[in-house]
Amino acid sequence: MVYQQSAKEEIKNAADIVELIGQFVQLKKAGRNYVGLCPFHAEKDPSFTVSPERQTFHCFGCKKGGDIFSFWMEYHSSTFPEALKDLAERYQVTISEGFSGHKERERSAQRDAVFKINEKAAFYFQEALSHSNVGKAARAYLGRRSLPKEVISQFQLGYAPDEWDGLIEFMRREKIDLDMVARAGLIVPKKNGGYYDRFRGRIIFPILDLRQQVVGFGGRVLDDSLPKYLNSPETPVFHKGEVLYGLHASHKAVRETGRAVLVEGYMDLLALKKNGFQEVVATLGTALTATHIRRLKGYAKEAVIVFDSDEAGKMAALKSLPIFSNEGLSAKAVVLPEGHDPDTFVNAYGLDRFSELIDRAALIFDFFLDQKLAKKDPDVEEKVRLLKEILPVLSGLSNNSHRSLYARRLSERIGIKEEVLLSELRSFEKDRSGRAFQTRMKGRLTDSKVEKRFDDLHLLNLLIHYPDAASRLVGCDWKILLSDSAVIEIVETFFRKYSQEGPFLPQDLLESLKSDVAREQFREALVDDAHYSEQEVDLAVAEIEEKAQEKKITASIKMAKGDVEALNQLLELKRNKDRKVLNG
Ligand code: CTP
Ligand code: MN
Repeated sequence: MVYQQSAKEEIKNAADIVELIGQFVQLKKAGRNYVGLCPFHAEKDPSFTVSPERQTFHCFGCKKGGDIFSFWMEYHSSTFPEALKDLAERYQVTISEGFSGHKERERSAQRDAVFKINEKAAFYFQEALSHSNVGKAARAYLGRRSLPKEVISQFQLGYAPDEWDGLIEFMRREKIDLDMVARAGLIVPKKNGGYYDRFRGRIIFPILDLRQQVVGFGGRVLDDSLPKYLNSPETPVFHKGEVLYGLHASHKAVRETGRAVLVEGYMDLLALKKNGFQEVVATLGTALTATHIRRLKGYAKEAVIVFDSDEAGKMAALKSLPIFSNEGLSAKAVVLPEGHDPDTFVNAYGLDRFSELIDRAALIFDFFLDQKLAKKDPDVEEKVRLLKEILPVLSGLSNNSHRSLYARRLSERIGIKEEVLLSELRSFEKDRSGRAFQTRMKGRLTDSKVEKRFDDLHLLNLLIHYPDAASRLVGCDWKILLSDSAVIEIVETFFRKYSQEGPFLPQDLLESLKSDVAREQFREALVDDAHYSEQEVDLAVAEIEEKAQEKKITASIKMAKGDVEALNQLLELKRNKDRKVLNG
C-alpha cells in the first residue's frame, strides 16, 4: 500500500493533466481552466473542465471527474492497476506489485492475459503470412488487392493457416492456458471437449487500441466463401460496437486536419492509407454509435462519412444525424459512384479525385435531402413519405437551434411552411408515448434543482483557496450556517485532515472524502475561481464567525422561550453584539 501510494504520487508529480487529457479531448483555455466536449456523455457545449492548478478534471454535465487515474480508467474502460501500469510506463515511474482489491486485480489479470495472448496470436499470424509456403496464397491475395509490404507491416496484417489447430499448437508450445485463449476468442470450445481455431484460412487484421495493444481481430476469406469477414467475439477487451479501426494510426492526422473520414471496412481504410490519405477510421460495418463519436471528437472538428449509394446508405446517413448533433460534432457525408467503395474508388481514380469528393462533402441533412430529392419534383404523397422519415429524426435532436435550422431548410426544399412543419413535429412528439416529454422534463427538473446555499459555497471556496485562513474557523460553530450535507462532510474532513497533517494541497482532500456526492461537490468547487481576493480573506473569515455566532444566538433565543432569565441574558448578549456591529 505504501509503495503504491508513492508510485501514484510520483506519477502525479510527473504528469500534467492538461497535456494528458489533451491527447484525447480537444481542450480550450477558459480562464484558469481548460474546457472541452465531455468524452463521457452527449453534449454539444463544453462542460468538461480540466484544472491545471488542481490537476483534476470535472464535468458539470455528467459529474464525472477526478485525477489523471480516474480519467484514464474511465476513458480506456480499464481498472486501476492497469491505469497505474500504463501511466507509470508513460511517465517512467517504477511500481511494485501488490495493490488494489481482489476483484479489480482479478479483472486486470484477465485483461492483461487477453492482451498478451492477442499479441502472441498476432505474431503467429504475421509469421504465417510471411512463411514461404503457408502464406503464399494469402500474399498473392493481398497483392491482387494491391496492398504493398509497408502497409501490411504497418498494420501488422497476418494470415490464419487453413488448419483446425494451428494456433492451438502454437499456444501449447508457448505454454499458454487454452482456457484463456478461448476467453480471448481465438479458439472455440468443441461440444465434446477440446477446442478448434476460430480463424482458419483468412487474412488477419489485428485491431489496435490507442495504446497500441491488440484488442481483437478481423479475418477475411481469400475467395467468395461466407462469411466474408469474421471478427473476434466480445471479450474482456473487445467490444465491436465501440472500436474505430485505424484510430491508433490516424489520430495525429485527424487532429492536424481537423477532420475524420469514416469508412466501413478494413480494406477501405488500408487502401486510403496506401494512397496517402491519412485522416481515416473504419467502423467495421457496424452502425455508428455515440461511443464512436465521443472517441472521434477528441481529435476531429468534423466527420465526413462515406455512405453507400443505396437506399440503406441514405437512411443510415439520416439516422446518424441526431447522434452527431447531440454530440456536438459537425458531420458531412459523401456518396461514391454506384458500385464503388472507398477501396475500389481510390484505387481506380487516385487520391486527388477522392480528396476532391471529401472536400466538397455536404452537411448530412442536406446530403440526405439532395439524395432524396435528386430526381424529380416530389408530389404531395412523396412529401408526406419524406416527412414521415424525417420527423422522428428531427425529434431526436436535443439541440433546439439545430431543430429549427433543419426545419427551415426542409421547408425551403419541399415548399412546406416552417410553422406547419414545426407543428407537425410537435404533434408527432405528443403521439409518442410521452417519452420525449419525459426526458425533457427530467432535464428541466435536474437543471432547476435548488441552488446551493450561499454560505455553503463561500466556505467551500474559502477553504480551497485560502486553507490557512479557513482553518481558523475550526473553533466556531460553522456547521450552523451550512445546509448541504455534502459540504458539511467536506468541511469536517478538511478540519480533521488539517489538524492531523497541517497544510496540504486542496485536491488531496478528494481521496479522504467518503461519499460520492461530497467528492462531486468538491471537484466542482476545485475548478471554481476564488470568491475573495487576498485582501478580503480576513474579513470573510470574520464575517463567517460573526454570522455563525448570530445564528446561534437566534437559535438559542427560540429554545429559551419560557425560561425568562435565560432569555433576558441572551437578548442582552444580542443587543451588545448589534451595538458592536453598528459602531464598528
Ligand atoms: N463486416 C463484418 N462481417 C461481415 C461483413 C462485413 O464484420 N460478414 C465488416 C467488416 O469490417 C468489413 C465491413 O463490414 O470490412 C464492410 O463490409 P463490406 O462492405 O461487405 O466489405 P468490404 O470492406 O468492401 O470488404 P472487401 O473489400 O474485402 O470485399
Ligand atoms: Mn470493399
